[in-house]
Amino acid sequence: MIPGVLVSVFAACASLAAAQTTTTLQAESATLSGVTVATAVAGYSGTGYVDGFDTSTDEIRFTFNTTKAQLYDLGIVYNGPNGDKYTYVVSNGAGGSQISLPATTTWTTVAGGQVLLNVGVNTISIQSNWGWYLIDYITLAPSAVRGPHQVTTKNVDPNANADAKALLEYLGTIYGKNILSGQQDQDSLDWVTTNVGKTPAILGVDFMDYTESRISRGASSTDVDKALAFAAKGGIITFVWHWGAPVGLYDTEDHPWWSGFYTDATDFNITNALVDTTNANYTLLIQDIDTIAVQLKKLQTAGVPVLFRPLHEAEGKWFWWGAQGPEPAKKLYRIVYHRLTNYHKINNLVWVWNSVAKDWYPGDDVVDIVSADTYAQGDHGPISATYNSLLALANDTKIIGAAEIGSVMDPDLLKTYQADWVYFCVWSGDYISGGSWNSLDLLKSVYGSDYVLTLDEIQGWKTK
Ligand SMILES: *[C@@H]1O[C@H](CO)[C@@H](O)[C@H](O)[C@H]1NC(C)=O
Ligand SMILES: *[C@@H]1O[C@H](CO)[C@@H](O)[C@H](O)[C@H]1NC(C)=O
Ligand SMILES: *[C@@H]1O[C@H](CO)[C@@H](O)[C@H](O)[C@H]1NC(C)=O
Ligand SMILES: *[C@@H]1O[C@H](CO)[C@@H](O)[C@H](O)[C@H]1NC(C)=O
Repeated sequence: MIPGVLVSVFAACASLAAAQTTTTLQAESATLSGVTVATAVAGYSGTGYVDGFDTSTDEIRFTFNTTKAQLYDLGIVYNGPNGDKYTYVVSNGAGGSQISLPATTTWTTVAGGQVLLNVGVNTISIQSNWGWYLIDYITLAPSAVRGPHQVTTKNVDPNANADAKALLEYLGTIYGKNILSGQQDQDSLDWVTTNVGKTPAILGVDFMDYTESRISRGASSTDVDKALAFAAKGGIITFVWHWGAPVGLYDTEDHPWWSGFYTDATDFNITNALVDTTNANYTLLIQDIDTIAVQLKKLQTAGVPVLFRPLHEAEGKWFWWGAQGPEPAKKLYRIVYHRLTNYHKINNLVWVWNSVAKDWYPGDDVVDIVSADTYAQGDHGPISATYNSLLALANDTKIIGAAEIGSVMDPDLLKTYQADWVYFCVWSGDYISGGSWNSLDLLKSVYGSDYVLTLDEIQGWKTK
């Protein structure tokens, strides 16, 4: 997570349904607000396309009448001559999703996720978000009902211990039937207990303040102790690692040392560090991994498995491990995996990968769960476009988690959309308690849902 910045995720392509059932709606015939019909860029269909998405309120509003309530796969045909952009799709005034529109100078179709349409009149809006794209038309095709999942619950680590096996197996038993509630940070979790009246099933904690470049500047952490205590109460633990660069921190007023996991706070160059194993900076990376191994060992000894999510949000490039593109990020992930599992014999981990794009995927042999982080303020939709992209990423062979979210999902929409996130973890502080990302009433209703599992409901999960 980047504090104070809206983090985005990436929707890849899913296949569209059979051509004969597909409806095409031309943008130039829709209701336009703040945008205009244009014809300068050749190759569009119909009589033009829509241009001029330059302010946040700009919108194309399509109307579509149906005789049957069901999910539709949405396709968006666009042109992106001004670089990578995002748009925001809202159906019937609620439940939107952010859709990635990668740079292109040809008219290109992207999967826009699914939209739930009602009997009668429906509206589908394309909203500006990160603008300067051109829209030609959208397509709607009834979604095929998805078959049973093909996921494996066999850990990628061949030496996974009984605790790691039990955790992945447990996730397999609830996958598609329930979602585990989760909360980042002990104080925020306590806030949920006090104010919502239920305790999340998962505590999210961070290895951030355990490594040398931070400890030497005064940082310290008790997150491992908190994890041990929460596990003793029957809860599940997930660790992220805001890995401060081991060296090369600017440590200025604008880029203080404690923000040293950000690309713009360090000149640490992952590509150079990984060039060979004798490089001094390679050695520093290994030292940091070894430091974290000491902490993980405490959890392993205590019988606590961990949903471990190193090198998170790599594809966003805002963290130094993603800054040089997918290859060094994947390489470092595999180094972390092998150092911990094979060298340190840390075998209590369920390995969680956290980027959606195919070219960032480090491989089926080192990933137990795929996940994404998504932040859409006040939107309690199922994040189905991202879910479907993750399904495609691992061809439905890996369980899928919502590793960080801002606004909680409506459980009814999760079921309707078959967006089978196995857990969610709300980010800390204002995201959970500030009232603008989630109202207290909504949190009470989500936490009270039969679909959502809380700490009291997962007791004894290791033997379930
Ligand atoms: C859609 O339904 C509305 C309300 O019944 C009607 O006014 C409108 O003409 C219909 N539109 C189309 C394209 O059939
Ligand atoms: C290690 O990284 C630091 C910080 O970016 C850099 O100044 C130094 O030259 C690097 N060392 C080597 C041996 O590449
Ligand atoms: C990092 O190192 C690589 C390989 O030497 C180089 O191509 C790249 O430009 C460097 N990146 C930065 C931001 O210095
Ligand atoms: C994806 O899974 C399906 C069903 O299990 C299988 O038939 C297909 O070969 C798989 N595709 C790839 C690319 O692995």
